[in-house]
Amino acid sequence: MSLRKSEHIRLFIPGPVEVRPEVLDAQADWMIGHRSAAFAELYARTQPMLQKLFGTENPVFLYTSSGTGIWESASRNTVRQGKKILHLTCGAFSERWAEVSRLNGKDVDLIAVEWGQAVKPEQLAEALEHETYDAVACVFNETSTGVRNPIEQYAEIMRQYPETLFLVDAVSIWAGAKVDVDGWGIDICLTSTQKAFALPPGMAFASISPGVLERAKEVKNRGYYFDVLTLYKYHQRNNTPSTPPVALLFAAERQLNDIMAEGLEARFARHERMAAMTRAWALENGFGLFAEEGYYSPTVTTVANTRGIEVGALNAFLAERGMTLSNGYGKLKGQTFRIAHMGDTQPQHMEALFAAINEFLAQEG
Ligand SMILES: Cc1ncc(COP(=O)(O)O)c(C=O)c1O
Repeated sequence: MSLRKSEHIRLFIPGPVEVRPEVLDAQADWMIGHRSAAFAELYARTQPMLQKLFGTENPVFLYTSSGTGIWESASRNTVRQGKKILHLTCGAFSERWAEVSRLNGKDVDLIAVEWGQAVKPEQLAEALEHETYDAVACVFNETSTGVRNPIEQYAEIMRQYPETLFLVDAVSIWAGAKVDVDGWGIDICLTSTQKAFALPPGMAFASISPGVLERAKEVKNRGYYFDVLTLYKYHQRNNTPSTPPVALLFAAERQLNDIMAEGLEARFARHERMAAMTRAWALENGFGLFAEEGYYSPTVTTVANTRGIEVGALNAFLAERGMTLSNGYGKLKGQTFRIAHMGDTQPQHMEALFAAINEFLAQEG
């Protein structure tokens, strides 16, 4: 007998994404206490696999929050009083993170580009020549616009500023494309787990560099729940300061084992392939691509609604066929719609989605 009560709607929205039944079921094991040896062993088993996905030897912390909590942790722990943070913004999520820094009392400078554009490395280089920052914060994959920012090129510039911490939101790309924390010198790489990692929401991971732990000692008012020094103290014992989402960690171990079995290269190539399929489908069917050419996301495509279709009507049509996609984000609602191609979604699922959308388009005439 299935435990699942509702009808299955396959999610092509950029988070939460479809979760495989095996991963859902992994959450249903008997509960264990988080101060038990069994929990410490589970935590320790997941660590090397997480480090591999981040491309790092730095510790990976478990946060009992979605990715937004790690924004707060990153902003709050890395910027000293009287110092500044530079935010690179190009869409809804990068703008919101800048707002989170402000709301935590930080002095924020911005490099802001139009939604749909990527922030160019030259812009970062110029800003760093004119001002000294405690941290630079950027979003690798801007989920609202479908832009993949050139993080590798930012990394080359950041190398010249070792005192400035490099904070990267990899929320909607981690586990779907290569992230090379050590190669790119990223100090905090933060994620959520309900996107390309394809877990139910409620937990998030971040890699934390020794430079962040040193900096945090000089930052006053780090709070408690998201204080990296407290998290690190417990991390060293394979534990967390407060009660973690144990069932989600059961699911994470299952997912990590499966990701390792698929192989990282194969997983990332599958994402690239599904992204290319989605772009080709959009262009062949009279739609446009909202993101700047050359900066297309491997995990989510923001389709420019140049045919002026009713996205709500499309979604109602798709729901009857057991699928759903996302309307445009915020001010892009109606002008765009978003198709996620991440996690454990396979090319045949994309084919089924395109066939259904084409059926809708044919009926619309
Ligand atoms: C790029 C990006 N950053 C941060 C967030 C916020 O993450 P969460 O919803 O897990 O708090 C999102 C959510 O969609 C996102 O796409």
